Amino acid sequence: MDGNGRWANRRKRPRVFGHEQGVEALVRTVRACVERGIEYLTVFAFSSENWKRPEEEVSGLMSLVLVAVSRHVAKLAEEGVRIRIVGDRTAVSEKVRASWDKAEAATRDNHRLVLSVAFNYGGRWDIVQACRRAVADGLTSDTLTEAALSRYMALSHAPDPDLFIRTGGELRISNFLLWQAAYSELYFTDCLWPDFDAAQLDAALAAFAARERRFGDVQAAAPASAPEEA
Ligand code: IPE
Ligand code: MG
Repeated sequence: MDGNGRWANRRKRPRVFGHEQGVEALVRTVRACVERGIEYLTVFAFSSENWKRPEEEVSGLMSLVLVAVSRHVAKLAEEGVRIRIVGDRTAVSEKVRASWDKAEAATRDNHRLVLSVAFNYGGRWDIVQACRRAVADGLTSDTLTEAALSRYMALSHAPDPDLFIRTGGELRISNFLLWQAAYSELYFTDCLWPDFDAAQLDAALAAFAARERRFGDVQAAAPASAPEEA
């Protein structure tokens, strides 16, 4: 969800205003996904590296979590959204942690769309935390397979993403889903995140639909959602 700061700069407003509008774009996008039958949406809200930002912006983002949860979670819960937070929770404040706990608890029984919010998340952090937990569980060089490690990854509750969208014009992954995006279709758009809407989502989905996915094979794979042949 990149481009909040530039969006605000262009309007001569503080960066935090861009992040506030970014929350609106997120809620809009979650609804658009629900309407389209998309079952998993994972968003990069705060990276392990974002702590480097000025203190004012970091604290603005943390306050925004509290506001966003109290303003939007009850409604999203009614709409069938389940919220899961992925990332290192040990470093965030007690208040933010309590807010995330509340969002998860309030949406626990929902199944229509799983919204995974990556917060204090990094792709490398994820791989390392998975390895550590696997080793602590007694996995060894013989048993530590790709499938076994996958179960320890922070997004083990979700299938690997089919489509990976980055807004804001940069052409890089910036330590998001390194493990899970191995075969994701990448889609980059200059649209700044606060401007993202259903039409932007449809453009990304149309581009995705035109891709041929081979997963290393020579022939196109059947779509992931296609029913199994009897
Ligand atoms: C949002 O966009 C990403 C977050 C860390 C919340 P940015 O804050 O990176 O916006 P730009 O890239 O400066 O425009
Ligand atoms: Mg940015």
